[in-house]
Amino acid sequence: MPQRPYVVDEMISAKAIAARIEALSREIAEEFADTDKLVVVGLLRGSFVFIADLVRELDLPVEVDFLEASSYGDAMESSREVRILKDLRGGIEGRDVLVVEDIIDTGYTMKHVLGLLKARKPHKLRSIALLDKPTRREVDVRADWTGFEIPDEFVVGYGIDYAQRNRNLPYIGKVRFTA
Ligand code: PRP
Ligand code: MN
Ligand code: MG
Repeated sequence: MPQRPYVVDEMISAKAIAARIEALSREIAEEFADTDKLVVVGLLRGSFVFIADLVRELDLPVEVDFLEASSYGDAMESSREVRILKDLRGGIEGRDVLVVEDIIDTGYTMKHVLGLLKARKPHKLRSIALLDKPTRREVDVRADWTGFEIPDEFVVGYGIDYAQRNRNLPYIGKVRFTA
C-alpha cells in the first residue's frame, strides 16, 4: 500500500516513558505482592518494547507469554474485527495474569482479549496499557493501569507501527503528513 510522506514529531520522550514505567511497576508489584508467579501476557506485535521494559522493572517472579491479536493490519483505521493469530503457549486457569498492551484506541482489541482470557478462569486478571486515547473509545473497556492518556493523534514508536514502520523508535511520536 503506498504511503503518503510523513515525519514523526516526538510526543513522549524515552526518559518520560522510563520514569512512568518505574512508577507503574511499583504499583503492579504491590497489587500482585502475594503471587507465586505472575504470567505477563504481551499482545503482539505492538507491546513487545513495552513488555520488555516493564518486566525488567517488575520486582516479582514472572513468566512471559504472548498472544497475537491484530485489528489494524496496515490501515490507519481499526477493522473492529479482532483476529487471534497466535494463542498463549501456557494455560492460565487459576493463575495471576497481567495483560500488557501498547495502546487502547477503539477498545476492540483489549475488550476481546480480556473476554477471551477471563473465560479461562484466571485467579486474578489485570491489564495495563502504555497509552490510552479515551476520546476514540467505541466499546466500554479500561486498563487497570495507564501510562499516558493522549489526544486523538496517530502515534508511532516504542513498539507502535504505521503500516509496520517506526516500531523501533525509542520514543512515542506523532505522525505528521507532509504532502
Ligand atoms: C494496534 C495496537 C493495539 C490495537 C489498539 O494493534 O497495537 O493492539 O491496535 O486498537 P483498538 O483499541 O482500536 O483495538 P494492531 O492491530 O495494529 O496490531 P500490531 O500490534 O501488530 O501492530
Ligand atoms: Mn496491537
Ligand atoms: Mg499495528
